[in-house]
Amino acid sequence: MFDSTFKQPLQITTLVFGLIAGVVLTFSTNSLLNWVKKKQDVVDNYTKTEEIADGVVGLIGNTPLMRIKSLSEATGCEILAKVEFLNPGGSLKDRAALNIIKKAEEQGLISPNSGCTIFEGTSGSTGISIAIISRAKGYNAWIIMPDDQAEEKYQLLEKLGATVEKVRPASIVDKQQFVNLAKSRAEQFGKHQGVQQDVDKDFEIINMQNSIDNSRKAGFFANQFENLSNAEAHYYGTGPEIFRQTNGKIDAFVAGAGTL
Ligand SMILES: Cc1ncc(COP(=O)(O)O)c(C=O)c1O
Repeated sequence: MFDSTFKQPLQITTLVFGLIAGVVLTFSTNSLLNWVKKKQDVVDNYTKTEEIADGVVGLIGNTPLMRIKSLSEATGCEILAKVEFLNPGGSLKDRAALNIIKKAEEQGLISPNSGCTIFEGTSGSTGISIAIISRAKGYNAWIIMPDDQAEEKYQLLEKLGATVEKVRPASIVDKQQFVNLAKSRAEQFGKHQGVQQDVDKDFEIINMQNSIDNSRKAGFFANQFENLSNAEAHYYGTGPEIFRQTNGKIDAFVAGAGTL
């Protein structure tokens, strides 16, 4: 049955071939794995760089500084401008809106994709910023504006998915004034959830329950005019950015300042 004289040389040959194939396979597999790893490292190096923004929210801030040639040449001073209109919402209000929303999230006041609605009284810019960020993060935006603003602002807000409520311009002491109304709309929004009102030192927290339950919708009043997170966006963001971009060589800083 078993012919050992015939099988013996075949077994040695098979063994030798097997060894050679094993060695070749080991080396080629290793080099293939190394090659794949190197490729992956290259891809990672590209994709993990700060050059690639993480969604639309990642585009906010880090705006360029532009040397204003005409003024610099006319004055003999280097005059630079921080190009805030390159934020995705077209204004520096993106920074404030993002920080207001981030801080509210950190404090557990709102959470994405849970029906939370962010209310704001605005003449437009902050509303556009809130609408963009809300859309990106999974919130509803409810924007209350005076009805005498440019039509394009309302249209843009609606295109961004925000609910837009236009009201007659009114005095700040009037309950129907757009900012006052945004606050009371947020209060009303939460009321049917049967949760209690709470007031934080930085935020007007509307109708949030004590312990955060993500399944409950919350109305959140962004409150750009009184929310400290607005100014903090510049204190911790815009300011250090300018300092870094100029290597700290700043003799004078000029800015238009409104609310904060
Ligand atoms: C004087 C003044 N008006 C209106 C606003 C509202 O601006 P927004 O269009 O961003 O709501 C501000 C906010 O900074 C302001 O300072």
